[in-house]
Amino acid sequence: MEYDITDVELHEAGRRRIEWANRQMPVLQLVRQEFAEQQPLGGERIGCCLHVTSETANLMRTLKAGGAEVALCASNPLSTQNEVGASLVTDYEIPVFARHGEDRETYYNHINAVLDIKPTITIDDGADVISTLHSERPEQIADIKAGMEETTTGVIRLRAMAADGALKYPLIAVNDANTKHLFDNYYGTGQSTIDGILRATNTLLAGKNFVVCGYGDCGRGVCRRAAGMGAKVIVCEVDPLRALQATMDGYQVMPIADAAGIGDIFITVTGDRSVIRREQFELMKDGAVLGNSGHFDVEIDLPDLREMSTTIRTVRPNLEAYQLEDGREVFVIGQGRLTNLAAAEGHPAAVMDMSFANQALCTAYVAGLSEPLAIAVHPVPQEIDERVATLKLQTMGISIDTLTPEQEEYLASWKMGT
Ligand SMILES: NC(=O)c1ccc[n+]([C@@H]2O[C@H](COP(=O)([O-])OP(=O)(O)OC[C@H]3O[C@@H](n4cnc5c(N)ncnc54)[C@H](O)[C@@H]3O)[C@@H](O)[C@H]2O)c1
Repeated sequence: MEYDITDVELHEAGRRRIEWANRQMPVLQLVRQEFAEQQPLGGERIGCCLHVTSETANLMRTLKAGGAEVALCASNPLSTQNEVGASLVTDYEIPVFARHGEDRETYYNHINAVLDIKPTITIDDGADVISTLHSERPEQIADIKAGMEETTTGVIRLRAMAADGALKYPLIAVNDANTKHLFDNYYGTGQSTIDGILRATNTLLAGKNFVVCGYGDCGRGVCRRAAGMGAKVIVCEVDPLRALQATMDGYQVMPIADAAGIGDIFITVTGDRSVIRREQFELMKDGAVLGNSGHFDVEIDLPDLREMSTTIRTVRPNLEAYQLEDGREVFVIGQGRLTNLAAAEGHPAAVMDMSFANQALCTAYVAGLSEPLAIAVHPVPQEIDERVATLKLQTMGISIDTLTPEQEEYLASWKMGT
């Protein structure tokens, strides 16, 4: 078996992490049991480009239990947990191509190593496999039944490809399932971004001016958790509806030009580029902390900041100080890469349980289709989304009401009024 990881000797620690995550992923456990019995993925080769974490390891185990040949590479050079890679290779015999801190060239070599298994299904987080296939290995596309995309930024890229007529195989937008974005993006990014800030800085949030750029699913979660820790939350938005929601949720809303000079902590989570740039660095207070939880490391304009800085030094793990010419220092978490994955451990397993149950059930759906899907970006089938919600509630021991026949009739009719 070919693989490329940092150190196989780390596998014991990795296995313990994977098992701990597994305890909190009961829906995925049920899917894995079903897969082991029914083998819906027999004959499939699944190429995955995901954060190499303990939660992802449990997805990989599930796909393998379903009969697939699988291979995994990282979707971010800083999110790889080396011990998890070691355990997947050693304890679960799953090929992994990922080294924490790998450079750009290695990152793309690893994507190509995964594509060497000639996947029939792809799973992406950020669409890097999909774009490599389209730009460098288009001859492989004919063998691919469909792919799945995990995150908002990836789905945006795919929709842009579809609009340009450039998309060459069907994709399922797993991010857009209700049991994914309403939970993973909101609760997951909310909690784990705060976790990343605290691990990198150990700063007190109470009383701080905490600026969040982007009030989407992720931004809302970050705001709510920061407010819960006693921070004074300020939201910067470009969408009037979202800005209005933020206002009525009780946060101060203002342009980044006004927030730049008063923020103590800044988090970007927009999926956009250069959200915080030169003009804002010029206004920032000495000691301001910046982090990004959007998918790519382009939301904080680090090339601008580097140009403006006289020195850059590491002050703590995952925290760098940029000293500006006038002596002020601003601190950047995890090189502007996903704060929650670079400086913490990513989303808690209990929330990834739902995201990855969607991923696993979508692979079985794709593998079982008698007719190929049209080349487009498709939603997760509603039955899968509802099944994940139902199973999650069951595993939490929560039962809910059911409609009476009379209520069903009432809700389906238009004749009954006051
Ligand atoms: N850190 C993680 O683990 C994690 C998890 C899920 C998603 N993500 C990523 O986080 C990002 C946001 O995801 P989402 O689901 O919240 O997306 P979303 O589309 O729901 O929200 C993004 C918001 O940012 C706003 N925005 C865009 N440009 C802006 C700008 N220049 N200034 C201020 N606001 C701006 C948009 O109007 C929108 O309201 C994406 O890149 C996504 O891939 C990260």
